[in-house]
Amino acid sequence: MTYFLIILIIFTIYFLKKLFFSAGDNQTIEIDPYKGDKKDSKMGEEETIVITDYTPRTLYKYNGHDDEKVYLSIKGKIFDVSKGRAFYGPGGPYENFAGRDASRGLAKNSFKEDMVRDWDQPIDKLEDLTEREKKALDEWEAFFEKKYNYIGNLIEDTSLSH
Ligand code: HEM
Repeated sequence: MTYFLIILIIFTIYFLKKLFFSAGDNQTIEIDPYKGDKKDSKMGEEETIVITDYTPRTLYKYNGHDDEKVYLSIKGKIFDVSKGRAFYGPGGPYENFAGRDASRGLAKNSFKEDMVRDWDQPIDKLEDLTEREKKALDEWEAFFEKKYNYIGNLIEDTSLSH
């Protein structure tokens, strides 16, 4: 009987320990589903992003044709939208935004070619946007901030004489 009790105690301790450790592990699980989705890294891996300056010219490289990576800019902030390649990559519905400043198109709810500027043009100052369009753009900015990583800033190319 004593023998049985000892075995029972050992098992109880073992299960309690197991329960305790698995509870500890659970604490490391990403509980914010959006945040977990945003991070491309595996659990426990920290991702270091170096915020880099891009000009319209250097940004254009990331239009999905020449590089794996797809970037776009919103209000001067550049987002890595590579995981949304189906949207922004070649043949995607919003491919005109890839490697470019998507602000005007998002504000005006249009993905047409005339919404985006070529890489050798000055950055769109968006001064003519209505309050409603500005609000729509702010909402898109918040959407991209949640879903994608902010990786850089869009700056004017000083070597071009506009
Ligand atoms: C023609 C009508 C349109 C349809 C049927 C449509 C449909 C969709 C659908 C189904 C999604 C995916 C939503 C999700 O993942 O939950 C989406 C996302 C999106 N749409 Fe549209 N859309 C249309 C027009 C537009 C226009 C005019 C723009 C221009 C600004 C636009 C910009 C976007 C963007 C930026 C996303 C987010 C993609 C991402 O997750 O990165 N859409 N759209």
